[in-house]
Amino acid sequence: MKIVVVKNYDELSKLGAEIIASKIKENPACTLGLATGSSPIGTYQNLVRMYEDGKISFKDVKTYNLDEYCGIERTHPQSYYYFMHDNLFNHVDIKEENTHVPYAAPGGNLDEEAKKYTAELNKTTIDLQLLGIGANGHIGFNEPGTPFEQETFVVTLTDKTRQDNKRFFNSIDEVPTHAMTMGIANIMRAKSILMLISGTNKADTVVNLLKGKVTTDFPASVLNNHPDVTVIIDEAAYSKMN
Ligand code: GLP
Repeated sequence: MKIVVVKNYDELSKLGAEIIASKIKENPACTLGLATGSSPIGTYQNLVRMYEDGKISFKDVKTYNLDEYCGIERTHPQSYYYFMHDNLFNHVDIKEENTHVPYAAPGGNLDEEAKKYTAELNKTTIDLQLLGIGANGHIGFNEPGTPFEQETFVVTLTDKTRQDNKRFFNSIDEVPTHAMTMGIANIMRAKSILMLISGTNKADTVVNLLKGKVTTDFPASVLNNHPDVTVIIDEAAYSKMN
């Protein structure tokens, strides 16, 4: 695991975008695995700026998102489908048909959709997977206890995760109880992985990631088994390592 400590969220976002942009320049038809949450927002803003400045194009880029809440419409402002359009897709030249977000809206057959997503993922290879990390070590929505062999599935969110994500909703009752997520096995098949960790609220998480052992109790620890992982950490998140 390559660890890069940067000053703050701005620096993290610039470096995150540079790494993704160089992947796109190296292979303009690359496949990216994308993440949501607060951690990648600045990275997406920098990528949009690079696109506007003519430095990169998403014309032939394909994307697969990690996860989606179950039971809310794609038009819901907190759906990850909406998030991706709002923060990236609507502002660059990516083709809608080249973007993929798990489908977990009301009325869908969720288990069937999860199987379809795994089948799609198995037809492709993700060149670079972007990841955030939950305070409890979750990646995507793979909560503690998820087997490392897991493929895309529907997960019951922990109370901790629902509390952490409450800030985006009007009340805890509105936070979905379930989500569909790429499994750990899907994530680990990416050729390279870029994880972004920012803020004091992730300081203990960073200690667990960097000093803990590989265990399903802390899903992100599986990244120690991957040959090409870069973790960008800002000083606030790294503060308990000193
Ligand atoms: C959510 C997402 C994760 C994300 C995590 C951390 O639960 N499913 O993919 O990494 O939150 O989010 P944040 O970056 O807002 O701390």
